[in-house]
Amino acid sequence: MPVAVVILAAGQGSRMKSDMPKVLHKVAGAPLLAHAMMSGQSVDAERIVVVAGVGAQQVEASAKDFNPDARVVLQSEQRGTAHAVQQAGAALADFDGDVIVLYGDTPFVTAETLQEMLVARTTGNAVVVLGFEAANPGLYGRLFIRGGSLEAIIEAKDASPEQLQISLCNSGVICADRALLFDLIQEVGNDNASGEYYLTDTVALARARGLPCAAISCDEAQTQGVNSRRDLAAAEASFQTRARAGAMENGATLIAPQTVFFSFDTLIGCDVVIEPNVVLGPGVTIESGATIRAFSHLEGCHVSQHAIIGPYARLRPGAEIGDYARVGNFVEVKAALVGEGAKINHLSYVGDAEIGENANIGAGTITCNYDGVFKHKTVIGARAFIGSNTALVAPVRIGDDAMTGSGSVITRDVPDAAMAIARANQANKPNLALRLMSKLRAAKAAKVKE
Ligand code: UD1
Ligand code: MG
Repeated sequence: MPVAVVILAAGQGSRMKSDMPKVLHKVAGAPLLAHAMMSGQSVDAERIVVVAGVGAQQVEASAKDFNPDARVVLQSEQRGTAHAVQQAGAALADFDGDVIVLYGDTPFVTAETLQEMLVARTTGNAVVVLGFEAANPGLYGRLFIRGGSLEAIIEAKDASPEQLQISLCNSGVICADRALLFDLIQEVGNDNASGEYYLTDTVALARARGLPCAAISCDEAQTQGVNSRRDLAAAEASFQTRARAGAMENGATLIAPQTVFFSFDTLIGCDVVIEPNVVLGPGVTIESGATIRAFSHLEGCHVSQHAIIGPYARLRPGAEIGDYARVGNFVEVKAALVGEGAKINHLSYVGDAEIGENANIGAGTITCNYDGVFKHKTVIGARAFIGSNTALVAPVRIGDDAMTGSGSVITRDVPDAAMAIARANQANKPNLALRLMSKLRAAKAAKVKE
């Protein structure tokens, strides 16, 4: 059965105290909205419809940035969850299949859980709801189960004291056939404590038609929602805990797991060693056998097998580090291919560059890639040896097996196998050091006497 996902993201999120819509706040480097979209994509949703309201333009841009095929519809006034889903009606009018409703502020619902809901749909349940045993049921809607099947969802504000005793709560995730769902929503009224159109009412409405409904339950961690900055930090923490465990299960060594930070899309091979205090921003792939030494910061980069990065290295977007290459302390690499076995071990900036295999980049080498307006490229050949403190003024090409003298400012191409020296000549003045020092000391002594 084809699946479509509707993500509710119209709410203001006033408790975030933010100018930015709540769903655009990030966990593990991706907006909350993107996490919900990933949940949808994990069950191969054919269509993703985001219901935006507050900050709709920003929400739309973010949704399309993550998935250009996502559709974004507007709910200009927040009149309840059923009203929100209703706004997706036109975008799904020609869709035949199951619709799953997710919340944009609830990032961690897993593929397995959604799959379970879809399976429950195939066994004759018209509406399937995701519930969880709440440690603190508070304001959650309560799932009213009778004889093993779901009869109704009662919002806390409308519940009797006995109904409030129920600890099986509504996560908000709901699944039903598209045509039935929108038909039931037509019937939802707003005669309740909040004066809102509750999506949850679709369960009782389906039951009134004699249609069976079911609840699937999951771990409370999956239904963790974000309403405040504290919730955001808690969501980040739980993401990181899972990511660290996952990396270790896949065969990576984390010496101090609680000090390593992953992103939503980090990919790590087996036998990777990550030392303490490493931050992996979005878009990082680390292949097997590589080592990331302490205090390194990586984003948008690819580290190939057995490369060694850091300590104190920074890999920025577009850094492609070859097999067995080394990027050492206080080295920044951006938009650069570093060939197999090449070494940039100390205090360098390498940007917009290509470095050939087994090249050796001396301490303090700088690619001067930016003229204030344009970026230019530096190409360094295989086995080249760049002397310490060389400034490579791009565009410039250093040939294979070529060398540069320490302290050179290289402004012209260097042919293969050539040695380029571009620095002032040294002059030695016999005894001048001694004479100069005695002169200075005498001057100081005269001053003290005054
Ligand atoms: C809702 C459920 C409740 C459930 C809880 C789980 C209903 C009536 N109640 O309650 O059973 O236990 O979530 O967290 O559905 N939204 C819109 N447009 C609207 C209203 C809401 O887009 O008009 C979005 C919000 O931005 C949010 C989500 O829908 O992401 C849930 O809305 P919220 O107001 O938080 O619902 P709750 O009262 O918490
Ligand atoms: Mg809520």
